Amino acid sequence: MSEVHLIEHPLIQHKLTLMRNKDTSTAKFRSLLSEISLLMGYEVTRDMPVEMREIETPLATMQAPILEGKKVTLVSILRAGQGFLEGLLTLIPSARVGHVGLYRDPATLDAIEYYFKLPEQMEDRDCIVVDPMLATGHSATAAVSSIKETHPRSIKFLCLLAAPPGLDYFHEHHPDVPVYTAAVDPELSEKGYIIPGLGDAGDRMYGTK
Ligand code: URA
Repeated sequence: MSEVHLIEHPLIQHKLTLMRNKDTSTAKFRSLLSEISLLMGYEVTRDMPVEMREIETPLATMQAPILEGKKVTLVSILRAGQGFLEGLLTLIPSARVGHVGLYRDPATLDAIEYYFKLPEQMEDRDCIVVDPMLATGHSATAAVSSIKETHPRSIKFLCLLAAPPGLDYFHEHHPDVPVYTAAVDPELSEKGYIIPGLGDAGDRMYGTK
């Protein structure tokens, strides 16, 4: 299966270029990420299932579409995933939010989990896992493996930038989880950074080093 959806909307590509630029300020970087997450959220939710419900307008009774199932769950991979939440929550204000905390072992680049908290009744929920950078794919893969243990109805993975080795690694482990990204950059550095990329997304969002 292994789907990769490249979201090439010109507004997203324009904003991504501004984010890649090393001279873009922390404040601007954060607001661009928020704007992009809203635009990408529109694409990632395009096929959400709806059911018909009877409602009354001021003039008549009608069957009208409404999202089916329990509330959507957004799962942010800490810390850079937080940057995707604002735009997505503007679009889906009733979404539940889970968090997965992972850090990269600098020697092995393996993902080590230090925090995991999801809403209850995941069996009825569609889950969108967010992290701006799909680099080695280790964090994304580990996060989705843990999330799968809660048996959500569906899982999608949303990022801003991906690299081919990360996509391969992720889909080797999770061929059933589609990835939505704004770009696939050609390579990874030895330290696991996406090249040309945009640097460390967490540092650029929060002004840390
Ligand atoms: N994480 C980042 O923030 N940037 C990269 O390039 C790779 C992983």
